[in-house]
Amino acid sequence: MGDLARFGVSIPDDLLEKFDGLIKEKGYNNRSEAIRDLIRDRLVEDQWTKYENDVVGTVTVVYNHEQSDLAQKLTEIQHKKHDLIISSIHVHLDFHNCLEVLIMRGSSDEVKKAGEQLISTRGVKHGKITMTTTGQEID
Ligand code: NI
Repeated sequence: MGDLARFGVSIPDDLLEKFDGLIKEKGYNNRSEAIRDLIRDRLVEDQWTKYENDVVGTVTVVYNHEQSDLAQKLTEIQHKKHDLIISSIHVHLDFHNCLEVLIMRGSSDEVKKAGEQLISTRGVKHGKITMTTTGQEID
């Protein structure tokens, strides 16, 4: 991290009150750390909007492995995207349901596309793409 800078912020009372309530709920000890995290989150989001960037993301899917050829379809997609997927975890949640978390690295466009393809596969009960960062361009 670089040197710390201090700055003043003007903000309506009621907005600050809500913010303080939220950060207390989230377990922050002070406003500074909460504001730093908000800024980092926004910067990561911005990084993701730039097509050529090297980004990392996770894709989570929940599905029933007994449903026709769904498990096979998902595996096929993953093999086609093997250059993007750097790791994966499979958890058998119960007799029927599976959770898969894939960690991907590539351009934001490719990662998003692959994630959306998996999530939109018919029979997937729930899916989520989490955008995060390689950490290199953020303090
Ligand atoms: Ni399973």
